[in-house]
Amino acid sequence: MNYNILKIDIADKIAVVTIDRPEALNALNSEFFKEMDDIIANISADKDVRVMIITGMGKAFVAGADIAEMIDMTPEQGTSFSKLGQNVFRSLEKMEIPVIAAINGFALGGGLELAMGCDFRIASSKAKFGQPEVNLGMIPGYAGTQRLSRLVGLADALYMLTTGEMIGAQDALRIGLVQKVVEPEQLMDEIKKIAGTIASKGPTAVRKVKYVTRKGILSTFDEGCDLESEYFGSQFKAEGEVGMRAFLEKRKPDW
Ligand code: CAA
Repeated sequence: MNYNILKIDIADKIAVVTIDRPEALNALNSEFFKEMDDIIANISADKDVRVMIITGMGKAFVAGADIAEMIDMTPEQGTSFSKLGQNVFRSLEKMEIPVIAAINGFALGGGLELAMGCDFRIASSKAKFGQPEVNLGMIPGYAGTQRLSRLVGLADALYMLTTGEMIGAQDALRIGLVQKVVEPEQLMDEIKKIAGTIASKGPTAVRKVKYVTRKGILSTFDEGCDLESEYFGSQFKAEGEVGMRAFLEKRKPDW
């Protein structure tokens, strides 16, 4: 499939997906969701890809859902547009491989919701973050009300959601919204380095650790521990044997 909005580049087991609609600050429209859905399916089917990175072209990561597309929607269409975004971002969480947001600039509204659908976030020092929907008389629609409070806690989430204020990268780091801040020109190199580190690890172990951790946070502690034991056991006589034997023989594992 040819994509209009998304560009995809696969090298060294890492897929970089770039949202390339800078004239609208990469605002998310229906076409974006169709293309992203397709890319998630294609990358999930490619067992050589071990990490996916999502970034934006130009001065924005994503400045939100496309206001020009939303303006004429009926309440029913609005609800469907919300479900569409929620489902696609949930699919990112459900991908077996880790997905990293490379936040190069504005991550607002639906853009921050996209970033929060990724497994973790690395930001340029120039990035700005916000849930400005209340400025428009709206509320978030792509699970921002649910993920933000889970990531940063209720009070910081409600501060951002009710004031609509933008915060800078250092404040985002302080509240745990992003995991690392780097200079803009180093952003992609740094993220590719992190992705390369992940790609060098036991590929099944990485997939399983994401699954068990994500499943666990939606389960009780005891259910999560049961799942962990089961998946821990399943790595023996498989990739785990390769990794442990390599350690004891003082060499790198050949996964
Ligand atoms: N939707 C559609 N178009 C957008 C957009 C959006 N979310 N954000 C920016 N654009 C467009 C602008 O309309 C403008 O287009 P024109 O050149 O055709 O006029 C172009 O992108 C450049 O934007 P600005 O001229 O505004 O750039 P700026 O540097 O002066 O300001 C900004 C940057 C502060 C990010 C400003 O663009 C802005 O406030 N954008 C809207 C942010 C927002 O409210 N996001 C939430 C959307 S609602 C949502 O996301 C709901 C949800 O959860 C599902």
